[in-house]
Amino acid sequence: MENSHAPHPTPLENFAAPEPDGSRGGLWSTTTARHGGELTVGGVGVRTLASTYGTPLFVIDEEDMRRRAQAWKQAMEEAFAPLSGAQVYYAGKAFLSAGVATWMSEEGLCLDTCSLGELVTALAAGVEGNKIGLHGNNKSCEEIRLALRNDLAHIVVDSLAELALVETLAKEEQRQANIVLRVTTGVHAGGHEYISTAHEDQKFGLSLASGMAMRAAEEVLASPHLHLVGLHSHIGSQILNLDAFTQAAGVVMDLRAQIATHLGYVVEEVDLGGGYAVRYTVLDDIPPAPIEYARALASAVQSHGKVSGLPAPRISIEPGRSIAAPSTLTLYTVGTIKAVPLEEGSRRYVAVDGGMSDNIRPALYQADYTVTLANREPSHDVVRSRIVGKHCESGDIVVRDVALSANLGPGDLLAVPVTGAYGASMASNYNMAARPAVVAVNGGKSRLLIRRESVEDLLSRDVDAEGYELNS
Ligand SMILES: Cc1ncc(COP(=O)(O)O)c(C=O)c1O
Repeated sequence: MENSHAPHPTPLENFAAPEPDGSRGGLWSTTTARHGGELTVGGVGVRTLASTYGTPLFVIDEEDMRRRAQAWKQAMEEAFAPLSGAQVYYAGKAFLSAGVATWMSEEGLCLDTCSLGELVTALAAGVEGNKIGLHGNNKSCEEIRLALRNDLAHIVVDSLAELALVETLAKEEQRQANIVLRVTTGVHAGGHEYISTAHEDQKFGLSLASGMAMRAAEEVLASPHLHLVGLHSHIGSQILNLDAFTQAAGVVMDLRAQIATHLGYVVEEVDLGGGYAVRYTVLDDIPPAPIEYARALASAVQSHGKVSGLPAPRISIEPGRSIAAPSTLTLYTVGTIKAVPLEEGSRRYVAVDGGMSDNIRPALYQADYTVTLANREPSHDVVRSRIVGKHCESGDIVVRDVALSANLGPGDLLAVPVTGAYGASMASNYNMAARPAVVAVNGGKSRLLIRRESVEDLLSRDVDAEGYELNS
């Protein structure tokens, strides 16, 4: 499982300062602190944030997110300097807005997109096409045409059928498409089945075992409308184990060598995907730092490269979660509180004004989080608590099991850290919930990145509700 259930309530909180590369230490973003009992992020108090923007609210610590992006870039540059260099693509699926795309670009990262919406957001932010990649296992003609017209750095092709489609569209558009072939390496990694993506029996990639990847390479090389720029592997998400990455890198490097031997072509780039882990609770292991991941990848690439005798490829990676998740906390307002008797003792159920519509991960992957009282000093006394949302599912859990301040009441603010990845980006309108706003805080100021959805927004898509006067 991605994160197993905590057998005991997770400790209250952990404010140990992260290291400068942002990858270790506490669970809270670098600038999170308590002043006079109140939590502050980027120098802004949570009470001000809640009263200005409402709750639930995603609060991104801009400085922290930028530092994580820099840490990856520096780590990859350092580890791959003796080889042919490296490029970091921020995986926008973790969380993307035009503001975040701009930050990533300013930090020297490229952008990995996987849908029309993500691609358009990157372009709207002014990111140049040659700094953007396009993923997806079922790309539409519209997505592929937009990629071609903007001369994207690459289109990551996921199947032979898609390769044929890209070729047809490239011919029509009179362009040459830069192709990266996504291969299934057979390396099984990442906690939960739904986030493990390199075993054969799943929807992503060109199978190596059946020779499909080799056939795809042959087809790309035979077409004047396609240019083979790279090979790609993404083995899963939330992976702590360096060996899984090095094994996958080895498999892709071997394929590169086979392509050179059999097809006489040296593929210039190898993309090793994302999947680098973060810590959600203090019970989780501390993940390797970016430089540790980067060195492990570099040593695998180097040793396999030596065997083949080919020039080293340029390496790219696509971290999403490890840049976005720890930079963000979600603020909720406490509503109903009730004590539920258990076989031994009882559990306090604390309902907040969001839930599975802003964080589906607990329901989808049994993911664990922690939480703290944010608007005032937590008490030393703690109560075994479960934080739940307001949706019509008993699996609508925000934090499964936590020892939380006893002095909690309706109207208090709770902060859940490490919610920056796959929270807002997976948010839904379940129960006709309006999706939360996303704000950035930095240097004592806050700025709206994405405004809160309104009931008007929700009604605007319902054609039979047209003309209904709100508040009538
Ligand atoms: C192809 C690809 N690249 C990168 C990522 C980002 O992974 P993570 O956020 O775990 O770093 C994903 C996540 O699903 C992915 O599918």
